[in-house]
Amino acid sequence: MPELTGLMRRHLVAVDTYASVDPTEELARRVGIRPEEVIRLNANENPYGPSQAVKEAVARTPLNIYPDPNQRQLRAALGEYTGQPAESILPGAGADELIDLLMRLFIEPGEKALDCVPTFGMYSFCARVNNATVASVERDELFELDIRAIKAAVDDRTKIIFICSPNNPTGNLVSEAQAKALLALGPIVVVDETYYEFCGRSLAHLLGEFENLVILRTFSKWAAIAGLRLGYMIGSPTIVEHLVEVKPPYNINSAAEVAGLASLADRKALMKNVEMLVRQRRRLESELQQIPGVKFWPSHGNFLLVDFQRDGRQISEELGKRGIFVRYFSHPRLRNSLRISSGTPEQMDLLIDALKAIV
Ligand SMILES: Cc1ncc(COP(=O)(O)O)c(C=O)c1O
Repeated sequence: MPELTGLMRRHLVAVDTYASVDPTEELARRVGIRPEEVIRLNANENPYGPSQAVKEAVARTPLNIYPDPNQRQLRAALGEYTGQPAESILPGAGADELIDLLMRLFIEPGEKALDCVPTFGMYSFCARVNNATVASVERDELFELDIRAIKAAVDDRTKIIFICSPNNPTGNLVSEAQAKALLALGPIVVVDETYYEFCGRSLAHLLGEFENLVILRTFSKWAAIAGLRLGYMIGSPTIVEHLVEVKPPYNINSAAEVAGLASLADRKALMKNVEMLVRQRRRLESELQQIPGVKFWPSHGNFLLVDFQRDGRQISEELGKRGIFVRYFSHPRLRNSLRISSGTPEQMDLLIDALKAIV
């Protein structure tokens, strides 16, 4: 018998995997508290959860039949929500699945996917899993896209450029001029607008002009259904058509489809929670301004990147002991920083008190 790993695809045997967040029970166990005491500010989740109407719609969903592989109803509703034709829209099991599907559609082994670091880790992770070469271009000193460096890194083997707006974890937007400069280079440009509803700023109006533009969105954040896994992409109908042919047929489960439809119908109520989270982020900003030596980066999302000007990991461990979990990144430019998600007023009270005590 050959060794099992010897049978595996070589590039996957020791892949540099994605650092995902642990479940609440595991976080609690690690610091010796009860799960109810855990405050999760480490995954940009929405603590309010789905609305009552969404929960009721999910509870009524028949679970014994397969969901619609073409997600006709959801695509029609998303068409109305986004103002884009339904044939330009494709739902995925989270924006995450669409990142992977796009990579599968466009990248031959060894071809390049480009991201602009520090940024969301799934772009480079999916590229590695799909045997792509990852070109990571550093952002400039203000974490803005370095267009000149990106242009220099793009060659005829570069198939996809990922940009994130607002960028996770730095919070800044991509401007229209920056996007246009990248779209003119030719590869697919994926603009990840996961946090769109927290700022209302989108580049979707460029879709008519650029066939190589793909916009990614999700229900995980504004609609608070991260656990159900529902995102979508907007792009050329040609891309959508081909992705429909290669995606797993029932990738959107029935509960997620129903929850998506019900969230769109109840979006006025859900957007109130989005507004509250933005308000709490602003409150955190003004509280941090009172703490000497602490800086933060202006954010358009439901999170804030805070620079403590000393080891961020240590501060994150101190917060963890108090049941508050935030995100630390190993990127060299973020060693003194933490990304803190916006929470309920009560969660932010505890966070602010803890930060004042620690820093
Ligand atoms: C920038 C960005 N894109 C995509 C995702 C994943 O979204 P989803 O839950 O829809 O897979 C996240 C999640 O945090 C994110 O921050």
